[in-house]
Amino acid sequence: MTAPLYLSGHLAPVAEEVDGHDLPVTGALPPELNGRYFRNGPNPSPGQDPGHWFTGHGMLHGIRLHAGRARWYRNRWVRTAALAGAPGRGPDGRPDLSAVTANTSVIRHGGRILALVENGLPYEVSDELDTRGAYDFDGRLTTAMTAHPKEDPVTGDLHFFGYSALAPFLTYHRATANGALVESREIPVGGPTMMHDFAITERHVVWLDLPVVFDRALLRKGMPYRWDDTYRARIGVMPQRGSAPVRWFEVDPGYVFHVGNAREDAEGRIILDAVRYNREAFVNSWAAMGAAGSPRAQNATGHAQLHQWTLDPRSGRVSEQPLDDRRVEFPTLNETLVGRPSRYRYAVHGDGLVKYDLHSGAGRCYDAGPGQAPGEAVFVPTEDGGAEDDGWLLTIVSDRAGRGSALVVLDATDLTRMASVDLPQRVPAGFHGNWLPDI
Ligand SMILES: [Fe+2]
Repeated sequence: MTAPLYLSGHLAPVAEEVDGHDLPVTGALPPELNGRYFRNGPNPSPGQDPGHWFTGHGMLHGIRLHAGRARWYRNRWVRTAALAGAPGRGPDGRPDLSAVTANTSVIRHGGRILALVENGLPYEVSDELDTRGAYDFDGRLTTAMTAHPKEDPVTGDLHFFGYSALAPFLTYHRATANGALVESREIPVGGPTMMHDFAITERHVVWLDLPVVFDRALLRKGMPYRWDDTYRARIGVMPQRGSAPVRWFEVDPGYVFHVGNAREDAEGRIILDAVRYNREAFVNSWAAMGAAGSPRAQNATGHAQLHQWTLDPRSGRVSEQPLDDRRVEFPTLNETLVGRPSRYRYAVHGDGLVKYDLHSGAGRCYDAGPGQAPGEAVFVPTEDGGAEDDGWLLTIVSDRAGRGSALVVLDATDLTRMASVDLPQRVPAGFHGNWLPDI
């Protein structure tokens, strides 16, 4: 029997945890890049078929850059209770929030490095990727935590949420810059949906209440969510402070895994951009990411486009439009501008990356070469913080035939390749990473 897509080619898991030192570099690494690039992704245990790309155990890959050299690479499974064999539910039948895969992203906040997955608690890891254990903000976090929290670049607050198939379906949380969870608030929604991401602006939270719903009948098939034509697609705007309710806007049915950014304008309107799937794109991609996906499927995440919504709380009106027709995923930006006006987005596009200039509408591409699959491009600003795109893009590029991987560093201004670091083993294409500068 042919292996499903998520166990094949550049998505196939690796069997070993390895360490490599003083890695070969082609080109020149910027000497200012002193820190660690960590990336998370699913990596089922050898011989295991989790039934969906999203449900393999989390594995972190790390590359240490210092003074123009690539000092080390290492990869480690996130040693969760689930990896140790714990069942997903406690004795009371409710989900065990520590028995999760922690496979989606990795952030540093409040001095802790956290591996994240949206259906459970974060797992804290060391700066050498050793697992310290599930982290619940000193007992204050009693829901799951999204893998897409948003750190406000001015206050340092971490805004996030937890969603659940069981009530409460959605809970908003805010942690201070030093990592104290100081606010948790239930948000009423129409039902249990898969809510992968959200957005913030300077003063608001933006919710994506979209028609991909929990379906108990699918529980044994990997990811128990499916498109539902009867669920109304809505985007909600909620003030961060105070107790004002969410203002909801009905939008054209679509699904969003990943937000680009959001901002508010002088008239109080909220402008949101994100990579949007229409019904057909979602259904096809979702099938390709699950057990039905064959290795012949072209690209499990490549059927969505950058899209923009303008929400006007005064008039109650919403307008939306595609910003481009390229098929993209994994949008990123200069995160010092989260929630603020920002001009550039970076996204994975086919065998390369695209840089969008939202002011001019232009798109510039980086081609990684035939048969190459770049992952999410993390933007690292230069220390003196010049222009918005003054910095570098870091991405792990993997060969689609499974022959190997490299960490590629691009100049974010023009997408020229500055350096490529050969990694000592293949890195399965995964989800999200972050640059953790030395502090
Ligand atoms: Fe994601």
